[in-house]
Amino acid sequence: MTDKVIQFSHQATLPAIGQGTWYMGESRSQRSTEVAALRAGVEQGLTLIDTAEMYADGGAEEVVGEALKGIRDNVFLVSKVYPWNAGGKKAIAACEASLRRLGTDHLDLYLLHWRGNYALEETVEVMETLIAQGKIARWGVSNLDYDDLQELWQVEGGEQCATNQVLYHLASRGIEYDLLPWCQQQSLPVMAYCPLAQAGRLRSGLLNNSTVTEIARAHNATAAQILLAWVISHQGVMAIPKASSVAHVEENAAALKIDLSADQLAKLDKAFPAPQRKMPLDVV
Ligand SMILES: NC(=O)c1ccc[n+]([C@@H]2O[C@H](COP(=O)([O-])OP(=O)(O)OC[C@H]3O[C@@H](n4cnc5c(N)ncnc54)[C@H](OP(=O)(O)O)[C@@H]3O)[C@@H](O)[C@H]2O)c1
Repeated sequence: MTDKVIQFSHQATLPAIGQGTWYMGESRSQRSTEVAALRAGVEQGLTLIDTAEMYADGGAEEVVGEALKGIRDNVFLVSKVYPWNAGGKKAIAACEASLRRLGTDHLDLYLLHWRGNYALEETVEVMETLIAQGKIARWGVSNLDYDDLQELWQVEGGEQCATNQVLYHLASRGIEYDLLPWCQQQSLPVMAYCPLAQAGRLRSGLLNNSTVTEIARAHNATAAQILLAWVISHQGVMAIPKASSVAHVEENAAALKIDLSADQLAKLDKAFPAPQRKMPLDVV
């Protein structure tokens, strides 16, 4: 039983489970609970925090900013730029606004949230400018499929991309056909969002599935922990579940120690088969 880790560029080694923040910062009354959950997560070793200018219109970044007080250096901080801000002066202004809300002077990773109208060349250029200005340490992308990544790799500096963040969970395995193997070949870390299928909301019955719950019982674990253990059993893949209670955060951190056996992985494969053909990239 060893904690699984993911290697990012510039020698950043991180636990294979981090923390998401979508839907945080929506309600003032939830703020202290959300801050407490994020801080507990960092204490438990879930040191990557993923946020975005989009979430609660900057409200999630403000929650993260509060959670970071006094512990900024212990956290690998990720935020995302809207596609319509991902070029030129707009990108610089968007990044600076994120930094202000987060109460920090730099991001560890800045992602293009999804592909929009800016040419990839322009986005790469401004990301490299942000690195030169010391505002971000690395950049990456999100919701880019195989063909988009091939295109990105043709752009000058495109291969400096540090990650691709995509939807991936046991019941949505489309990336295994071509995107994931290619990323693994390039040693490009993949960040799996919605690793819990939004607690089953994206795939009803997932948390009660009999194969999942049988394996959970065998590990004295919960179904959610098995879903996370499954995601991070894939080479180069990390999971960023969002949890707004300390209890969920503790459960998620403990999933780092669950090793699924070959037999258990085979049972999960049978219940949720890998794709046999190209599937459109799943998004939310
Ligand atoms: N790049 C993109 O386009 C994109 C898109 C979607 C998401 N994301 C990122 O990925 C993160 C994760 O995705 P997500 O938040 O959509 O979905 P998710 O992490 O799959 O699911 C979140 C839900 O799972 C619940 N949960 C957390 N831990 C649990 C546990 N141990 N047992 C049972 N339920 C548990 C949470 O409840 P509580 O809150 O009550 O704990 C919440 O309702 C986001 O927060 C965001 O940072 C990125």
